[in-house]
Amino acid sequence: MTNEREMKIIEDSVRIIREKTDFEPEIGMILGSGLGDYADKIEDPVRISYHDIPDFPVSTVAGHAGQFVMGTCMGKKVIAMQGRVHYYEGYSQRLITLPIRIMKRLGVKKILLTNAAGGVNRAYEPGTLMIIRDHINYSGSNPLTGPNFEKDGPRFPDMSCVYDAGFRKSLKEKAEQKGIHLEEGVYMMFSGPNYETPAEVRMAGILGADAVGMSTVPEAIVCGHCKIPVLGISCVTNPGAGILDQPLNHKEVVETAARVKATFEEVVDLVLQE
Ligand code: 6GU
Repeated sequence: MTNEREMKIIEDSVRIIREKTDFEPEIGMILGSGLGDYADKIEDPVRISYHDIPDFPVSTVAGHAGQFVMGTCMGKKVIAMQGRVHYYEGYSQRLITLPIRIMKRLGVKKILLTNAAGGVNRAYEPGTLMIIRDHINYSGSNPLTGPNFEKDGPRFPDMSCVYDAGFRKSLKEKAEQKGIHLEEGVYMMFSGPNYETPAEVRMAGILGADAVGMSTVPEAIVCGHCKIPVLGISCVTNPGAGILDQPLNHKEVVETAARVKATFEEVVDLVLQE
């Protein structure tokens, strides 16, 4: 895709959203598997369906709501993406990360990324919440490949502090005060859609990963490019393949995500409170 077509999606999105509201969100949220309901907590919501934006990437997974929700939550001005597309659906990483560039143009100053992930670190029980300290892009692709978005950032952006150290420290402290333990670790992205093999999970551990997943890294790279500080949180729903002597299934992922949902929502409340 050429830069002009991507710029048109960005500009159309900003125009269509601005025709509906002059609301200026400070915090962007991309809500991962099982956490989409959090957007229902947003007060005085303005909703913009992805279908109303020409060429905007829309999920191929049935039942995924696809809309921006803007409003106030925990006293903060937020924009949430309720539903989003994944790289494994076949879209390019450039395309799936355009919403980050759109949020930047709407005035967003900080971004929260959440996901469900598989555990590589053997100390992580299902349901562990992990603050992402850093990532390994093992997806085989990169959202910055192609012409550079010069207005957003440099051709060769630094990635040494994508996941804001201050956000991480203060969230961990706040959660601890509430009796919620948060781990902190490295998230490694695989392209999916299959779960990793036992050998791949072993490799991920040797390479320094604590969790594996199929999302978040492209968005975090674009935030790094745009100089938007990120807070990333993974819900470790299950051990990666080979850690236990049993096959993985999507049902387990969904069930654990549902079990931890209330705690995860409490953590998101804390994130917004800061
Ligand atoms: Cl084990 N792997 C990946 N890539 N994503 C996951 C997962 C595993 N469990 C939940 N999401």
